[in-house]
Amino acid sequence: MIRPILRYGDQILHDPAAPVTEITADIQRLIDDMIQTMYAAPGVGLAATQVGVPLRIFVADVSGGRVASDLLTFINPELVEADGTQHEDEGCLSLPGFTAIVERPTRAVVKGLDRDGRQQVVEGVGLLARCFIHEMDHLDGALFVDRLRGLKKDLILRKIKKLSRSGKW
Ligand code: NI
Repeated sequence: MIRPILRYGDQILHDPAAPVTEITADIQRLIDDMIQTMYAAPGVGLAATQVGVPLRIFVADVSGGRVASDLLTFINPELVEADGTQHEDEGCLSLPGFTAIVERPTRAVVKGLDRDGRQQVVEGVGLLARCFIHEMDHLDGALFVDRLRGLKKDLILRKIKKLSRSGKW
């Protein structure tokens, strides 16, 4: 089932999510829905907070569904290692219509459980590293716009406020 994606300003997106204590049938359903919602959007990553569930789960597929083995599910992810610096344009399904250059590591290693509860460690380079950090930020209540400073940030926030006031957000 495709679930609605919350937008910047919805409090669930701005609060840290709680760890998953047990992988139940409801969690499996949630993961299936998150994958379907990510592909339908379309996007390369989605955090549970974005569909209104404050739990530490994200899904990612930087191939956009073209390479089956690229689909990753992380439950209770933790950053193990990060290095390097990249500056690329980044967007977010919770900030439709906006992108900005965001500084991220070029390499990030994440460990956590897969959807069957098995421990996994995955190294992400380039886009996958960016995606990992972006999704882990979501689980801590941060969106890419929170990583910006100055004019660019003000401009995006002002536009969102304007869209909200006219009921278009
Ligand atoms: Ni996002």
